[in-house]
Amino acid sequence: MKIAFFDSKPYDIESFKKVAEGKDLNIKFYETKLNSDTAELAKGAQCVCAFVNDTLDEETLQKLLDLGVKLIAMRCAGYNNVDLEFCKGKIPVVRVPAYSPYSVAEHAIAMLLTSIRRIHKAYIRTKDFNFSLNGLTGFDLHGRTVGVVGTGKIGRCFIDICKGFGMNVLCYDKFPAKNSDLNYVTLDEIWEKSDVISFHCPLTEDTYHILDEEVVGKLKKGVAIINTSRGALIDAEALLEGIKTRKIGAACLDVYEEESDLFFRDASGHILEDDVLARLISMPNVIVTSHQAFLTEEALEGIATTTVNNILTYFKTGKCENEVCIDNIK
Ligand code: NAI
Repeated sequence: MKIAFFDSKPYDIESFKKVAEGKDLNIKFYETKLNSDTAELAKGAQCVCAFVNDTLDEETLQKLLDLGVKLIAMRCAGYNNVDLEFCKGKIPVVRVPAYSPYSVAEHAIAMLLTSIRRIHKAYIRTKDFNFSLNGLTGFDLHGRTVGVVGTGKIGRCFIDICKGFGMNVLCYDKFPAKNSDLNYVTLDEIWEKSDVISFHCPLTEDTYHILDEEVVGKLKKGVAIINTSRGALIDAEALLEGIKTRKIGAACLDVYEEESDLFFRDASGHILEDDVLARLISMPNVIVTSHQAFLTEEALEGIATTTVNNILTYFKTGKCENEVCIDNIK
């Protein structure tokens, strides 16, 4: 079976080759992202494997259907970049609902600690034999309040880590977990009471720009914002304004709304066209990583294993438990 694998990176190729060995799969790895211009590369393939910044809109999907593609295998948890409404009844979409929630939760915490303990500054200073501590004062997480938006797999791991630090955890979820000991509150309470806010919900119509100008006005002064979920949860201009007015004390961003043409590639030596991102990166209290939170050995192996199993199961049985359909998503 031929699989057209888009937006491939060396670490993807390594993990997928290892898992696919001996399974009679012919994976064609393409560096380019999938969109309506590149869909043609899937000619002769029964399956297309795509990632978070590929464009699976109606035009692209129609081209894939015309080429005879029978399955879309997303090698990620999120599917906000797939037009599921269009896919319904035409082409099945499978995904990797969970690989290592620890990878993302631990990255969120790594960013938070780096930011509030100024590790990014200290690292550069000591490399230059500058051992001064001036300007590196942080704050204890112990006793602080953290607001967690989205209490699914990653949110839960993040909450457990925060509890280990002795933090007071407030939670918000549109679909709160039943019979849990989580302290669910309203979104307004999250905004008003939290010293740290971390987003772990999917990008949907409800959560698009969930943090906007109006919400920035409600935040506790000095709050640290963490987003490892999807960039468009945050209105980046409102975030920037909140930082400039000192309302927001720190931002840790692994995702960015306009990331698709930038993240996962080396753009050093190029002029950054995105003024908002350039300004955010220039801030001393903003840390940006380029959608790196999933990148651990365990997660890569989990992604490759589940994706290959999804594909094999679908073509063997005509169904797959990891199919995502517009009718059964939250
Ligand atoms: P999950 O499906 O286990 O949990 C998501 C939670 O969000 C659920 O409890 C759900 O009820 C809740 N939710 C849904 N709509 C909501 C709303 N309107 N407001 C508040 N909560 C809402 O998903 P998981 O595995 O925890 O992943 C969370 C997100 O993390 C994914 O949607 C994806 O966008 C992101 N992600 C980022 C990665 C990275 O490398 N930066 C890697 C993997 C996932």
